[in-house]
Amino acid sequence: MKILKTIQELTDFRNTLKSSSSLEKNKIGFVPTMGALHQGHISLIKKSVLENEITIVSIFVNPTQFLEGEDFEKYPKRYEADIKICELANVDALFMPSVQTMYFKDEPLILAPAKSSFALEGFKRPGHFDGVLRVVLKLFNLVKPTNAYFGKKDAQQLFLLQNMVQTLFLDVNIIPCEIVRDEYGLALSSRNVYLSEVEKQKALSISKSLKIASREVMQGNLDATSIKAKMQEIMCDIEVEYIEIVSRDFQKLDMLQIKNSIILVAAKVGTTRLIDNIWM
Ligand code: PAF
Repeated sequence: MKILKTIQELTDFRNTLKSSSSLEKNKIGFVPTMGALHQGHISLIKKSVLENEITIVSIFVNPTQFLEGEDFEKYPKRYEADIKICELANVDALFMPSVQTMYFKDEPLILAPAKSSFALEGFKRPGHFDGVLRVVLKLFNLVKPTNAYFGKKDAQQLFLLQNMVQTLFLDVNIIPCEIVRDEYGLALSSRNVYLSEVEKQKALSISKSLKIASREVMQGNLDATSIKAKMQEIMCDIEVEYIEIVSRDFQKLDMLQIKNSIILVAAKVGTTRLIDNIWM
């Protein structure tokens, strides 16, 4: 596996692919990450390795998507372990640029579409999605992937990235990937390392509430207000920021639409902010 730190190294890597036989079908899979890789990331990487001739993973803790006071400085960094994980997963190249490599003092900005990015996560974290789109656009331009893999856990991010690809006419397929959970149901996240054992127990109420919501739907209850109230009851021990039911194109729904809905939760457990969702 090649470890690439500069744009030149990445460009050289891409050029050697062109001149070798490793890209007959011209299929490059890309998994952008902020590192501290867990089984969720590994599932994206495995899918990419299976579906493409070459897989490139990036690890870049992107400063522009963190707000003042968020956890940019303390975001978990486990570069050695991450490199091992990527090697074992048959990744071809790992791109690990510095902030100076990715950003310039004066550069054009990209703004996430106002209507869909100021709801939910964007409302709680204004400017967050501008930073996500900005860095992913740069990464797409550098890596030039055929397929790019993103988890459904960050459902609004996934929607905004699909929207960016469509509206900026980018030549890349966004591949949504299933949420990976631990044995108790907690959705895997790099931020789970912040949770104490007691907090981890409390955090389980998030996935429990989503299970209850899905049971309600299976039993024919499609009323958003009633589903949300039942979920809130389950999460009485944690600080719920929002429970929302939206269509796959992120319009708020009063009545859940089967096969076109996502039930979303954001909650704080101690000082750790967690998100989770279920696609129905
Ligand atoms: O989902 C993430 O880990 C990040 O938002 C991403 C897509 C790697 C951009 O920094």
